[in-house]
Amino acid sequence: ANNLETFYDTAYNLTLKCGKLIKSRTSSRTKKVETKSGAIDFVTETDQEVEEILIQGLSSAFPDHKFIGEEGVSQGKQCELTDAPTWIIDPVDGTMNFVHSFPHSCISLALFVEKVPAIGIIYNPMLDQLFTARKGHGAFLNGEKITVSGINSLTDALIMMEFGTSRDPEKRTIILENQQKLMPQVHGLRALGSAALNMAMVACGAADAYFEYGIHIWDIAAGELIVTEAGGVCIDPAGGEVDRLSRRVLVASSQELANQLAKELVQFYPERD
Ligand code: IPD
Repeated sequence: ANNLETFYDTAYNLTLKCGKLIKSRTSSRTKKVETKSGAIDFVTETDQEVEEILIQGLSSAFPDHKFIGEEGVSQGKQCELTDAPTWIIDPVDGTMNFVHSFPHSCISLALFVEKVPAIGIIYNPMLDQLFTARKGHGAFLNGEKITVSGINSLTDALIMMEFGTSRDPEKRTIILENQQKLMPQVHGLRALGSAALNMAMVACGAADAYFEYGIHIWDIAAGELIVTEAGGVCIDPAGGEVDRLSRRVLVASSQELANQLAKELVQFYPERD
């Protein structure tokens, strides 16, 4: 438990430091942007720098810890989750938003031990929203305890969903089919452009559920713990246990709502990580 405190404090301080860097660059019109897996999947020098600062800082404090970082994996590093303490890093979740100076991007940082989440931190420095959780200790927004809304019916729900960073026509059709199916049944549909921030909105009760096909473990690792510590659930979009490398996720403010949503969704199975 003592170790976990040290891990948390170190991660927390590094996150705040990187948040300053992201905030100082968000409105710049001269970001260096490159594409990764396709025409709308971006990486900037800030994504790379933040990942480097986090890995540097954490590995010098905890030399035996392992890392799964979005930018490292896109440069060919292995995306492998073992029992060892592993930091899972999305340096800028919502890179598209960052590129456009749309103020909804965040750092998403999680520590998994024995393949389960122990620490989750999501920080949007533009809005100064810091979501944190440690296993068994609840979830917090800027130090104040948060809980999910508890909404348990699709008819009362505000649902977060995303368009994603791929232009795959089959996936696009399924996203639009799900919008068509859900729109007449729910209060509303929203997309913040960051998987981690969508999950944070469910955790603090500002939204009631979120699902997406095509995410990676670094997009959802911190969000899973923050949602579950806030009293919500995290499952596979078809129902049943979440598989964190399957690139599919559904979180909700209650098991009933999660089940109802899972039953409605047209399913899509991206290639596994
Ligand atoms: C993306 C964002 C986006 C989601 C994509 C993610 P990135 O992460 O979370 O909202 O729709 O699936 O890949 O690339 O900005 O870190």
